[in-house]
Amino acid sequence: MPVMDLNIEKLCPQVVEICQEVGQFITTEFKQFDKRKIEYKHANDPVSYVDKTAEEKYVNSLGRLVPEAGFICEEGHGIRNESGLNWIIDPLDGTTNFVQGIPFFCSSIALTQNNEVVLGVVADFMHQNYYFATKNGGAFCNKKRLLLPAEKISGKAVIATSLPDTFHPHLSELLDFIAEILPKVHGWRRLGAAALELAMVAEGKLDAFFESGLKPWDVAAGSLIVQEAGGTVTDYNGKDEFIFGKRVLAASKNVHVDISKLLAEKLSILS
Ligand code: IPD
Ligand code: CA
Ligand code: CA
Repeated sequence: MPVMDLNIEKLCPQVVEICQEVGQFITTEFKQFDKRKIEYKHANDPVSYVDKTAEEKYVNSLGRLVPEAGFICEEGHGIRNESGLNWIIDPLDGTTNFVQGIPFFCSSIALTQNNEVVLGVVADFMHQNYYFATKNGGAFCNKKRLLLPAEKISGKAVIATSLPDTFHPHLSELLDFIAEILPKVHGWRRLGAAALELAMVAEGKLDAFFESGLKPWDVAAGSLIVQEAGGTVTDYNGKDEFIFGKRVLAASKNVHVDISKLLAEKLSILS
């Protein structure tokens, strides 16, 4: 099939269906997960057979759906296609939550065409919420269209980001930054699954999400869902280098303006 013939609107529900199939495996394993099966990629970076098997299942099914597409996957399955037609896959975002028994995790699947994200699905299995968007086709959660109001202000915003780990070179400055930002917003959350947090920004449950050190599979699907819901997504410089650039700020329009000012002031410590 030539790339031009890809029907993104038709593909999207098929990707959701594949997520639902793989989700059955993920949720079954969640109920019976044995912590002795945790491995560590790095300190504080767990993985298990669930992440790896789920990814293999996605690669097999999505490979059959669009045989020409390559893969950019967290656990290393598949080969990237240099033409820019690629699935970007995080089979299990929120692995720390998963292995701890905390029901906040998801799968994140995006498709890029000419290196631009044209389809994104974030599957929140525990709540049966399937978030999806296609380029210029809008964003949805199940059957509900997602449309963000622009006028919310940051003083009333609930924002989410990560907490720095003990290895961060600017740990104390970052903790000071958190103390500085806290009184400027209504509330702060650390939820632990970046893709799902982005989807929740699109849904208006969170008003902003920002994090540094993220990978393309954390960001690709969720960022399209936020944009298609009418939100703004940038890196910390206000540019659009957020998929491969490791830093993302996603928010409804007005909140984005305020938070991006705060982040810009702290760029040197936010690696
Ligand atoms: C992680 C989660 C977490 C974020 C980390 C990611 P993983 O992904 O999204 O919220 O803080 O930076 O690596 O390892 O659970 O797929
Ligand atoms: Ca992830
Ligand atoms: Ca993962």
